[in-house]
Amino acid sequence: TSDHLRHVESMSTLPSGAGRISRLNAVILGDSLASEEDDLVFPSQAFSDQAHVPSPQKYLEMYTRSIQDPAGFWSEIASQFYWKERWSQQVYSENLDIRKGNVRIEWFKGGVTNICYNCLDRNIDSGSGDRVAIYWEGNEPGSDGMLTYNQLLARVCQLANYLKDVGVQKGDAVVIYLPMLMELPIAMLACARIGAVHSVVFAGFSAESLAQRIMDCKPKVVISCNAVRRGSKVIYLKEIVDAALAESAKNGIIIDVCLTYENESAMKRETTKWQKGRDIWWQDVVPKYPTTCAVEWVDAEDALFLLYTSGSTGKPKGVLHTTGGYMVYTATTFKYAFDYKPSDVYWCTADCGWITGHSYVTYGPLLNAATVVVYEGAPNYPNPGRCWEIVDKYKVSIFYTAPTLVRSLMRDGDEFVTRYSRKSLRVLGSVGEPINPSAWRWFFNIVGDSRCPISDTWWQTETGGFMITPLPGAWPQKPGSATFPFFGVQPVIVDEKGAEIEGECSGYLCVKSSWPGAFRTLYGDHERYETTYFSAFPGYYFSGDGCSRDKDGYYWLTGRVDDVINVSGHRIGTAEVESALVSHPQCAEAAVVGVEHEVKGQGIYAFVTLVEGVPYSEELRRSLIMTVRNQIGAFAAPDKIHWAPALPKTRSGKIMRRILRKIASRQLDELGDISTLAEPGVVDQLISLADC
Ligand code: WTA
Repeated sequence: TSDHLRHVESMSTLPSGAGRISRLNAVILGDSLASEEDDLVFPSQAFSDQAHVPSPQKYLEMYTRSIQDPAGFWSEIASQFYWKERWSQQVYSENLDIRKGNVRIEWFKGGVTNICYNCLDRNIDSGSGDRVAIYWEGNEPGSDGMLTYNQLLARVCQLANYLKDVGVQKGDAVVIYLPMLMELPIAMLACARIGAVHSVVFAGFSAESLAQRIMDCKPKVVISCNAVRRGSKVIYLKEIVDAALAESAKNGIIIDVCLTYENESAMKRETTKWQKGRDIWWQDVVPKYPTTCAVEWVDAEDALFLLYTSGSTGKPKGVLHTTGGYMVYTATTFKYAFDYKPSDVYWCTADCGWITGHSYVTYGPLLNAATVVVYEGAPNYPNPGRCWEIVDKYKVSIFYTAPTLVRSLMRDGDEFVTRYSRKSLRVLGSVGEPINPSAWRWFFNIVGDSRCPISDTWWQTETGGFMITPLPGAWPQKPGSATFPFFGVQPVIVDEKGAEIEGECSGYLCVKSSWPGAFRTLYGDHERYETTYFSAFPGYYFSGDGCSRDKDGYYWLTGRVDDVINVSGHRIGTAEVESALVSHPQCAEAAVVGVEHEVKGQGIYAFVTLVEGVPYSEELRRSLIMTVRNQIGAFAAPDKIHWAPALPKTRSGKIMRRILRKIASRQLDELGDISTLAEPGVVDQLISLADC
């Protein structure tokens, strides 16, 4: 690796704003490795030699250009896509500073394009028609299917024609509530083709949550299926949709068309409850439509999709992404962060119900004409070897998942991994929460046989695509660090007062200046967009995450600093769980905090105060948890209910979450100053009830 070391040695510093990168002295001088931060893992020379970005120099060169000349950098890349009309003179325009007026971000404005066309038609035109676009693997081993790019386009067109026929027009919303069937990316692409705005709702959300989203975006059509098998369970999705549609109808939002896919392996149509007129079987109508469908050309700044995500208040936010910038950004991040090559087979275990599934199951890979594995089932069904069975079956070369799955498979033992070959693997990826160094090492050593770089990608629903990520082959990695910013991204770490801190430091992670994939607003609430993201530290986009930067300039994400928690990579607002709990007739007040959880990353810990005179019981505990499952979804069920006759509050009535977090994590000697509490005795009482 001597060449490589020389590369590192001659590495210069990053432009200011991206933080300084000192030389990697520890490596160069062969110092003994003092701490985790100094623990470097090098890509092999062979890997670097074939990589898009083979060295730190190349990265620095491209990064520097992307910061000094964003317009030139991005318009060059954007030119590789199909534009019916090129964007106007200005590649981008932005205002991130609320002190200077409304926050506004635009990229490629005036450019006319279509992302579905760029995913399918463009790739087919350049010879990828017979390439496999999707390998679909069912929950039950042995059930599978596949679509080439030609076949995918035909399916997308049929659905697009159907949607047009029932009156969906450019700008209309369509809610998609589907599990990981091929029909899910098909539905997303069909909407994009006709300029409709899709809003995919993760099929683990409850009827209440689905109704809330339907009422917010008022779709013309809801697309779903009757049921799905996940592991050994069958989930009756149509029942959930029925309840959600009934709820929204009560509130005046009536959905005329509920297109329902018959997922025969889980449930036959005969046993599915049906509302004549409204409910229509996908299989009865869609295949009758023509397999070609003209594209609706849209402006780069026209809406592509809405995706609801959790924030620190109760109501989910409709994150809005537009077409052009998102297209360019997801395609580019996919290509570089995974070092994607046409010979790769790519599998991301995320569900299309989350942003990861939007950007890195559907759009990013398909824009690159990649072959994508879509898996319907649970990753450990029928046993913890399933993922590697799938990897071997499809010769997966890029495998992208969440730390929670890594930790859970790690617990099941190496045997389930090592019995499979996995020799097709080349690059691994991680997303959703910080990956702890021991899980990182297991992933690297056992799953990747110590030869596959790990791309630990930090990003958010709001950012559209990767923001801080290793480029495999370019940098030595540090287990647990997301390494360096992607091209065009200027992360800054600020202190409490919003002042930028340089060099080695820790603080709040912000971004100055926009990037093409940034979200443009919160649907129907631009003011909330500005207050949530741009007012805490004026002049910057505030991510909500804490972060530190080490002496070598590597970024280390430390988790959310707001009232959002990451449970198994799912983003949950504590306020949402609290509002679900207090909807229980016997719950007077609730305070929810995240606690460290061995597998899930964070667990949900709920303190509840009961209505006067109601005794706490096991039955009540269960019914409280049930309430959260019903209101949000099973993934948000609290791990622990802690009965609290009273909550620690300040004299002005504010709940002291700091103290609750310490009690929840049993760090009782770190409670800190409790003298400002209205009733300090509450704390001892809570501690004594901890294991009730
Ligand atoms: C967290 C998921 C550390 C972070 C793409 C962020 C991460 C939130 C990482 C966004 C990572 C995501 N390292 N933390 N590699 N990736 N996060 O919107 O707290 O579901 O703010 O997007 O996940 O979650 P979201």
